Amino acid sequence: MTFRSSLLAVSLILFATDAMAQDVAAGEKSFNKCRACHQVGETAKNTVGPILNGLFGRKSGTVAGYNYSEANKSSGLTWDDAVFTDYIKDPKGKMPGTKMSFAGIKNEQEIKDLTAFLKQFGADGKKGG
Ligand code: HEC
Repeated sequence: MTFRSSLLAVSLILFATDAMAQDVAAGEKSFNKCRACHQVGETAKNTVGPILNGLFGRKSGTVAGYNYSEANKSSGLTWDDAVFTDYIKDPKGKMPGTKMSFAGIKNEQEIKDLTAFLKQFGADGKKGG
């Protein structure tokens, strides 16, 4: 690698890291739309909706102690980026019969930011876990 191209590589990495941090901050703001019903973090509890720790990779309807609707429990969905994006755009469209009363988020960038924010929380509610 020439000096010039390694400099370019370094600045691309820095740029990507910075962009990610911005996503998380914007996503935290967007999560305010969910806080009335959902908690994340180490002290999170099920409230109106289930805890959203460790969401990505888990099967829908599987948080212990939360009383899901039949629709959520038996949806057969596994939360990944694509499924979550479709769902959060139109929860009742993606999961007919869900008891989540939320109109949805249409803005793709906001969904990406929200995804980056939520992905920080491992199943134990710790960041990066
Ligand atoms: C008015 C309350 C309310 C708001 C606001 C809300 N939710 Fe929900 N959410 C629920 C309820 C209730 C359920 C359980 C649905 C069921 O059992 O049918 C749920 C379920 C979910 C699930 C499925 C979880 C699982 O374990 O399968 C996800 C993902 C989710 N919500 C994400 C969000 C996000 C992200 C936001 C904010 C953008 C949000 N919700 C806003 C009430 C809400």
